[in-house]
Amino acid sequence: MSATAGLPARQAAMRLIEAATLRRGGLDAALNEPALRALSPEDRGFARALAMAVLRRLGSIDRTLDSRLQRPPPEPVRRLLRIGLAQMLYLDTPDFAAVSTTVKLAERDNATRPYKALINAVLRGLAREPAPEPSPEADIPPWLFARWAAQFGQAEAEGIALNARSEPPTDLSLKPGLDATDLVETLPGEVLPGGSLRTRRGGDVAAWPGFETGGWWVQDAAAAVPARLLDVQPGEAVLDLCAAPGGKTLQLAATGATVTALDRSEPRLRRLRANLERTGLAAEVVVADAEAWADERQFDAVLLDAPCTATGTLRRNPEVLYALGPAEIAKLADVQHRLLDAAAARVRPGGRLVYSVCSLEREEGETQVLAFLRRHPDFRLTPARPEAVGAPRDALMGDGWLRLLPGQWPERGGLDGFFAARLERTPAA
Ligand SMILES: C[S@@+](CC[C@H](N)C(=O)[O-])C[C@H]1O[C@@H](n2cnc3c(N)ncnc32)[C@H](O)[C@@H]1O
Repeated sequence: MSATAGLPARQAAMRLIEAATLRRGGLDAALNEPALRALSPEDRGFARALAMAVLRRLGSIDRTLDSRLQRPPPEPVRRLLRIGLAQMLYLDTPDFAAVSTTVKLAERDNATRPYKALINAVLRGLAREPAPEPSPEADIPPWLFARWAAQFGQAEAEGIALNARSEPPTDLSLKPGLDATDLVETLPGEVLPGGSLRTRRGGDVAAWPGFETGGWWVQDAAAAVPARLLDVQPGEAVLDLCAAPGGKTLQLAATGATVTALDRSEPRLRRLRANLERTGLAAEVVVADAEAWADERQFDAVLLDAPCTATGTLRRNPEVLYALGPAEIAKLADVQHRLLDAAAARVRPGGRLVYSVCSLEREEGETQVLAFLRRHPDFRLTPARPEAVGAPRDALMGDGWLRLLPGQWPERGGLDGFFAARLERTPAA
């Protein structure tokens, strides 16, 4: 793939990197731009892989380049050097192809043409004599790494940073009745403790055996834990309050419960509806703001998988690194606080609430739950049993919540980071 991908694929990668670093969600939007869609599937795949490699390893790449440059180059030159080096270090592009295509791209632009010789010399030099691999924290903004080290310790923070560098495996959640060990024959992989199938197969998921018939859906093993923690029974009325694109809605619907899936984003709910249709599962779908939903119903069980900074999913969304600052954490913590209050009002007396986020930040996890319990004395935390929900044993923390860390299960390929807590409302007197 990489040896044959040409200049358009590399230009597309540069466009993706630019879009991802300019604004959150930019990468997804740019993947749908006409210029990207016009590429062949192989070139599109190469462009995406190259962009992801640069975004995941930007700190390391720049450090390596700076070790070979006497003074900082103009930004357009640095951008070219980054994609050249990323191909040499993190993709399987032969060095000569990475160097020659980068030099050809430099030739095309007045701003970079005068630097052709420099680009050629720096990349060739690194091909001959590679620089040492920078430490894991090189790819994480120092303020963020320092937070993780303070919260989880240096070794765990390094595990998180290493995970953020890696290409994630694809985990599949299965409809009840399907056995992951049977699926392994067509989709080679490992069955994880919660029952997810972890496959290393790549490429377009929609072309995999079993996709059309809807027996499974893509969902990281960690993301499958919160819905299990809700322990839904057939026939119960369940509300999924921030539901789209719907991995957890599918899990809840698959239990035989009557599920209401609410989200304020119509485009994201379109994906949820498509997933329901493909899997043959049923849920009532509501487009509404959770804080202003004009419906008085209460439910046996409520899942609030709240919007968050998503620092637990950096390997999938490395662009988060470029959009995030401490102010963003505070802003989202405020949103989560309000959504938790809205969720509490939907839980019938004696019912339960699971709160989850794919963030590693304390303000979005532990702090939210402790503050919630102070505001809502009619709720109490019920300790989780990690083995019952497919979570690593050491995910159990504090008063009984779960903190799944990306560095856990390293031998299996890691996890997304998740926080999940189960709360129960006092029964009516
Ligand atoms: C973390 S995602 C949910 C992922 C989903 N639970 C799943 O498993 O696929 C958070 C969702 O919250 C939705 N959201 C954010 N604020 C909301 C609000 N005030 N009311 C309803 N939905 C909201 C977003 O549109 C987004 O789809």
